[in-house]
Amino acid sequence: MINLVLFGPPGAGKGTQSERIVEKYGLIHLSTGDVFRANMKEETELGKLAKQYISKGELVPDEVTINMLKEEVLKHKNPKGFIFDGFPRTAKQAKALDIFMEEIGSEVSQMISLDVEKEELKKRLAKRAIDSGREDDADPEIIENRIKVYQAETAPVMEYYDKQGKWTKVDGIGEIDEITERLFEVIDKLIK
Ligand code: C5P
Ligand code: MG
Repeated sequence: MINLVLFGPPGAGKGTQSERIVEKYGLIHLSTGDVFRANMKEETELGKLAKQYISKGELVPDEVTINMLKEEVLKHKNPKGFIFDGFPRTAKQAKALDIFMEEIGSEVSQMISLDVEKEELKKRLAKRAIDSGREDDADPEIIENRIKVYQAETAPVMEYYDKQGKWTKVDGIGEIDEITERLFEVIDKLIK
């Protein structure tokens, strides 16, 4: 299995690029944000809980997110591998993912982080809000908080993978196709 953590701040392009990676490499895209949003739409208990945090740009508690992620992974029989998008978002989630992957006889192959600066992120999120209908993209205060939470709790996850020699940084600025090519280059090397 090849398991990638596609990492980056909100608006970095994780979802967009994941779609392209899925197409080329046949991996399973697992976006924790998408799973939360689907649950919110269906008004499940998990959705109601998640909404309390997402609507403020805060993180859903680790235990909740970790259990959800495990369930999602286990839904797939004989997967070629996964792209984890939006997970892990804390050091605790990263550790839990390592333990879980080992339990299922696998491991995280690499974390690839998309590097995009704050002003550009704000622009992209404001633009995305128009078609996504995501409330958390439409409110500048929520965006600001998401970026703040990213810097405080999520960015340290890069160091976690760096220590394992599993971190690659990719420039996330430019044309979408250009960025895809940069990602493919990294993944091709991993597969070889
Ligand atoms: O990944 P995405 O940006 O789609 O996530 C949207 C929101 O879902 C986050 O701002 C956060 O509130 C919540 N989330 C979380 N923990 C994760 C992934 C998403 O709390 N691992
Ligand atoms: Mg996304």
